[in-house]
Amino acid sequence: MRVGGEVIPPGDKSVTHRALILAGLSRSRVTLVGALTAVDARATARALRQMGVRVSPLGRGRRVHVEGRVWRTPARSLHCGNAGTTARLLMGAIAGQPVAARITGDASLRRRPMRRVSVPLRAMGATVEEAVGDGLPLTIRGANLRDYRYHTPVASAQIKAALLFAGVSGGVSVSVSEPARSRDHSERLLEYLGFDIRTHGTTVDLRGPPDSWPALPDVELEIPGDLSSAAFLVGAATVAQEGELVVRGVGVNPTRTGFLDALARMGGNVARVDERTACGEPVADLVVRPAGLTGVTVQPEEIPSLIDEIPMLAVLASRADGVSRFCSVGELRVKESDRLGLIAQNLRAIGVESEVEGDDLLVQGSDRPARGRVETAGDHRLAMAFSVLGMTDRAQVHLTETGSAAVSYPEFFPDLAHIATHV
Ligand code: S3P
Repeated sequence: MRVGGEVIPPGDKSVTHRALILAGLSRSRVTLVGALTAVDARATARALRQMGVRVSPLGRGRRVHVEGRVWRTPARSLHCGNAGTTARLLMGAIAGQPVAARITGDASLRRRPMRRVSVPLRAMGATVEEAVGDGLPLTIRGANLRDYRYHTPVASAQIKAALLFAGVSGGVSVSVSEPARSRDHSERLLEYLGFDIRTHGTTVDLRGPPDSWPALPDVELEIPGDLSSAAFLVGAATVAQEGELVVRGVGVNPTRTGFLDALARMGGNVARVDERTACGEPVADLVVRPAGLTGVTVQPEEIPSLIDEIPMLAVLASRADGVSRFCSVGELRVKESDRLGLIAQNLRAIGVESEVEGDDLLVQGSDRPARGRVETAGDHRLAMAFSVLGMTDRAQVHLTETGSAAVSYPEFFPDLAHIATHV
C-alpha cells in the first residue's frame, strides 16, 4: 500500500465533551470551533438540551453555539448512547445543580462501572440511586455540595473531570489525587476560563469558582484534532510500504501522547511540525512515513497517556519484529468492550500469538499475512484498529461490523480510502 495526502482528523472527543458541559454550566454564549460532531458528542449535546441548555446543531464544519443556564430536571432519561465520558462527566455536573436525572445508555455503557464516580459524588452530598448495582441506569439528584478531597484508586480522567465539574457546578473546592496522571484537558480548560486550578504531581486542586463565574465574556473555544482518532491514520501510514501522510491540527497534549512515544520506541517515523497552542492545548501537524517496527514494552505509568491507543498499538505490535508487552492494562476490560480480551482473541484469530497474562497484554510480532475474522463487539476503536490491519500486505481481514466508527470518527473509512492507494 502507498500512503499519501493530508487529513484533518475530527475534533478531540475529550475536549468537546468538556467544552460543551462547562459552557452549559456558564451563563454565557460560548462558541466551539472544530468540535467533534460524532455520535458520542451528540449524546452530550442532546443531554444538555434536555436540561434546558441551548446547543446549536452539531454538524461538520459548523460552529457550535452554547448558551448555558441553571439546569432543569429533564422530562425523560438522559440517554448517553455508547459514551462513558458523557455519563460520568454529566453525573459530576448534575451533582451541583437543582435537578434530578435518570441516566442510561446502550447495552455496552449500561455494563460499565459508575460507582467510581457515584461514590465520591455521594460523599460530596449528591444522592445516587442505582437500578441494577454498579452500572446504568441510575438516578442522580443534585444538592448543596461540600468541599471535598479524594484519592482515587484508579487513574481516570473521567473520575477526575466528574469531581472537578461537581466543584464547578456546586461552587465548592475539590482536590483529586490519582495513582498516575491522567489526561488534563479539564484542568487546562478551567484555567483558560479563569478558574484557580493547580496541579502538583498527580494531585489537582480546584479552589471555588472565580468571582465572575458563571458569567463569562463571550468566548470562542478552538478544539484540537483528536490524537486518538489520528492514531489510526498514523498506524495506517506506518504499515504502508511507501509514501508520506500529513495529519493536520492534532492535539499533542503531553498527557495524551504516549502513543507517539511508544511508536517512536518501536521505530516509527512521525515528525511533529508547526507546533502551536489552541485554548491552552498544544497542537501540531504530524508527518508520518512508513517504518519497520520492533516490539516494545509499555510501562504501567505510561498507560493513562495511551489508554485509547492500545488497540492500534497492539495491531502495530503484531506487525513488529519481536514481542511487545503492555503492562497493567486491566482498565481495558471496562471500556466500550472488554478490549483486553478481544484484542488478544482477535489477534489470535488472524494468526498472531497474543495472550493476557494477569493484567498484561502480550503480542508476538509476525510477518505472516493477517487473515481471519475479527469480532469488534461494536467497539469503535477495535473496528478502526483492525481495519488498519486489513490494509497490511496480503491481508484478508473480515470485521463483524464497521458502523461503530461513527461513535468517534464518522469519516474514518472515507479518510482511510483517501490516504491509501495500492501499489
Ligand atoms: C476519557 C478518559 C479515558 C478514555 C476515554 C475518554 C476522558 O477514560 O479511555 O475514552 O475524556 O476523560 P478513563 O479516564 O476512565 O481511563
